[in-house]
Amino acid sequence: MDRKLTIQVVAMPSDANPDGDIFGGWILSQMDLAAGVVAQKEARCRVVTIAIDSMVFKNPVHVGDRICCYAEMIKVGTTSMKIKVEVWVTDKMTDDRRQVTEGLFTFVAIDENGKPQPVDRREAEAKKQAQRDLEQKRAEHGIVS
Ligand SMILES: CC(C)(COP(=O)(O)OP(=O)(O)OC[C@H]1O[C@@H](n2cnc3c(N)ncnc32)[C@H](O)[C@@H]1OP(=O)(O)O)[C@@H](O)C(=O)NCCC(=O)NCCS
Repeated sequence: MDRKLTIQVVAMPSDANPDGDIFGGWILSQMDLAAGVVAQKEARCRVVTIAIDSMVFKNPVHVGDRICCYAEMIKVGTTSMKIKVEVWVTDKMTDDRRQVTEGLFTFVAIDENGKPQPVDRREAEAKKQAQRDLEQKRAEHGIVS
């Protein structure tokens, strides 16, 4: 298991409703960020979220709680990556830890035009380099193709 603490952050009043309960959407955005870090490290290019599996919030989060997002690469496809993110919260008064939620995020590696591109581009890069080497050799020997 390669689950890593990817984001640790304190929930602030601006992330909560007037009763001090933290918005689910804020938690979700932290998870999206954590999954994005793992996806970007793997793909080493632009990545975007294409899907998020359904999620359940099992425990509330309050202002001042410390949120820990643990993210783990589950599957690398051709252009997509599935990353599991677990969220745990530590109570600021008691230090009790409880799991808040977990979710499965799918990211896609994209090129500069926003189109999907293979996560592992080593083969494609090697082919391009071989073509460049060939053209250079031809030029050196005055071969016109
Ligand atoms: C990401 C994007 C470039 C993909 O383009 P696309 O033409 O829809 O992609 P494809 O159909 O070629 O699928 C690309 C990969 O995503 C996977 N995929 C597509 N739809 C999916 C879904 N609903 N759930 C999970 N994976 C999905 C495909 O299986 C494929 O994976 P693979 O290459 O590993 O086999 C495009 O959908 C997009 O720009 N979406 C907006 C992303 C974004 O802005 N997100 C932020 C929130 S607004």
